[in-house]
Amino acid sequence: MQAAYLGIDIGSTNCKVLFMSPDGKVLEAKATLPYPASFPQEGWSEHNPDDWVSVSVKAVRELVSTTEVEILGIGLSGHMHGLVALDENYQVLRPAILWNDQRCQKECQEITELAGGLEALLGMVNNPMLPGFTGGKIRWFQKHEPELFEKTRFIINPKDYVRLKLTGEIATEISDASGMGLFDVVNRCWSDQLLSKIGIDQKLLPPYTESQEVSGHVSAQGAELFGIQAGIPVVGGGGDAVIQTLGAGVINDTVLQTTIGTGGIVATSLDKPIPNHGGTVQVFCHVIPQKWHCMGVTLNAGSALEWWKKTQGAVDLSFDDMATMAQSMPPGAEGLLFLPYLMGERCPYADSSTRGAFVGLRSHHTQSHFHRAVFEGITYSLRDMTRFIDQANQSKAIHASGGGTNSSFWNQLQADILGEEVVVIGNASHGAAYGAALMAGLGLKNWSSVEDFTHLFQVKQRWTPQ
Ligand code: XUL
Repeated sequence: MQAAYLGIDIGSTNCKVLFMSPDGKVLEAKATLPYPASFPQEGWSEHNPDDWVSVSVKAVRELVSTTEVEILGIGLSGHMHGLVALDENYQVLRPAILWNDQRCQKECQEITELAGGLEALLGMVNNPMLPGFTGGKIRWFQKHEPELFEKTRFIINPKDYVRLKLTGEIATEISDASGMGLFDVVNRCWSDQLLSKIGIDQKLLPPYTESQEVSGHVSAQGAELFGIQAGIPVVGGGGDAVIQTLGAGVINDTVLQTTIGTGGIVATSLDKPIPNHGGTVQVFCHVIPQKWHCMGVTLNAGSALEWWKKTQGAVDLSFDDMATMAQSMPPGAEGLLFLPYLMGERCPYADSSTRGAFVGLRSHHTQSHFHRAVFEGITYSLRDMTRFIDQANQSKAIHASGGGTNSSFWNQLQADILGEEVVVIGNASHGAAYGAALMAGLGLKNWSSVEDFTHLFQVKQRWTPQ
């Protein structure tokens, strides 16, 4: 029977699973339907953690039923920064508060003050406390739902809830731990100093491993639930925004990755943790041993296009139709500008009260101008972040990834707006699930280092600026 590594990605909208052979080929991949999402108040964004489990169980069972393999190891990835609160029996106490939820701006300011100001906070964790991060959510939870907080024994991130169901163990790894905003990313450990200043007990936080290390094995219950064998090793894996850089071949600072998914990301990989001046970007521990990851994240990329399609201009059109109409318009959409800040913003404007807008409307503007302005506005917000990442990045080879790369028009737009050649790497379309499978291969000594699999990063297509 063929052997394979299983990658599971608990994405922001749906779950992706795949089998990867030991030589790095994707044997079979599946993506599920979206999980239900809820937005109980303006700026709030929640999921039910058990939906991630039921959806990933279904996906893994389908994968196993269509492709018979011996599973050598499992890697997990998931959307970062989410707060999952568990009681002492590992029962979920409230819906998960997600990365794009903006409710805790005030609590983030309080944390910054308790830390002794932004510079002092950056000195402890090399990151600001952004409303997206788990730290501010913990304080919000403590203040606003004290009875539930009292019952809380563990606070973990999304993929680690699926890990719990697979292995029966509470654990995380250093890339997701970094995204809590409570992790000393320079020394790769929880920041005792910050935790004591803000009064969060370290016992609430999960133990962590390096991302390639084995965190546990599939338990008997996990095996029964997912329809796989007990005893399979599960490696740490990584937060999606970090681990997806692996499959896109972004393993050093000569490459910049852009991602257009629900949100937008510009990222690079570092040999040393650069000082995060002003806290404009995110500097996290990389899933690659002894490396760091530097990124800017916008909250409004694919989600802004989706909003435009659903609620305003294009209910009956496909995304391809919208791209074709946008393409028929001249660059600049004849003066119509779109600011995509529908969910507030994170980078480079860390302000949850930022709002979206159309600017420069004229009577001759048509639906096609609007489509073009929306695609351009999202892409300009990526460009806005690149000037901050440039301090870390040596060259500008741009590897594009995420759902946005399915549109050749959008890849060309990225090349034009970023002013650099944009390439798409073959397996990058498998995103974080592929990165998770690669990490399982790395952790289980299929490869001895990342350099052993760089031959997998083949350019599939290129777009040059026009
Ligand atoms: C990263 C971030 C998002 C989420 C969802 O900092 O907030 O990329 O991980 O993908």
